[in-house]
Amino acid sequence: LTDTYTLNNGVKIPVVGFGTWQSADGDEAYNSVKAALEAGYRHIDTAAAYGNEDSVGKAIKDSGIPRQDIFLTSKLWNVDHGYEEAKKALDASLDKLGVEYLDLYLIHWPNPVKFRDDWQKRNADSWRAMEEALDTGKVRAIGVSNFREKHLDELLKTAKVVPAVNQIFLNPSDMEEGLVEYNNNHDILSEAYSPLGTGKIFQIKELKDIADKYNKSVAQVVLRWSLQNGFLPLPKSVHADRIKQNTEIFDFELSEADMKTIDGFHGVAGLAQNPDETTF
Ligand code: A2P
Repeated sequence: LTDTYTLNNGVKIPVVGFGTWQSADGDEAYNSVKAALEAGYRHIDTAAAYGNEDSVGKAIKDSGIPRQDIFLTSKLWNVDHGYEEAKKALDASLDKLGVEYLDLYLIHWPNPVKFRDDWQKRNADSWRAMEEALDTGKVRAIGVSNFREKHLDELLKTAKVVPAVNQIFLNPSDMEEGLVEYNNNHDILSEAYSPLGTGKIFQIKELKDIADKYNKSVAQVVLRWSLQNGFLPLPKSVHADRIKQNTEIFDFELSEADMKTIDGFHGVAGLAQNPDETTF
């Protein structure tokens, strides 16, 4: 859990993060982040839209772990795209989390319904505000989430800073090979949200046979697959035993043959999304 990737601006990021999407504000988010920090996670991923920044911030504070030892990510929500809006939204996130800086700030979605006609300009303007936040030290790295190639192409036309990260829905059933290749070609780290396909990968029965071979759980095998692909998985759980289990993925290595077998499950859990449906 102390292993890191190095982002394209030199900042180090722990290779596994704790996801808090769908962790309700209040006790659920608070307790799960506390449990994650106790289990050794030092990378917490939240977002303004999750509505749990207060609880996440409180859990971090109460853990007693020094702020600089934790890598903290939040995201700009859809209603706040634009230069002034993004500046304000970042300040609001910092305030809710009770921290002076974020390690990573992402544009959560490229093209909210509200800005369907001017998403290009909105992203460019939000990005300018985020680049300034890098200069003022409010954030250590900036990136995007749910961006497809065309959204990145557009952003890169005006960006001074190349996104450090693209956080996308990425699991054995939804491999996004083209997008991952695009990210790699631009030195953009692919973060995998819902690395267990929001739990749906457990429907793939063959994964159990692979897991048994390594004396590991299906979740551990899938997270290991993510790591061996060079992704940064952000597993989420509200159960302390699973939170801990999801960290125990550094003491085994999947064979090339098993990696290939798992690649072969693309689409089988019925999750493969039509990108145009999910982002437009
Ligand atoms: P729960 O929070 O009740 O533990 P993803 O990270 O892809 O979004 O998947 C999260 C889903 O998978 C949640 O429903 C979570 O349930 C479940 N989950 C997370 N870790 C494990 C695990 N190690 N074993 C079984 N289910 C898990």
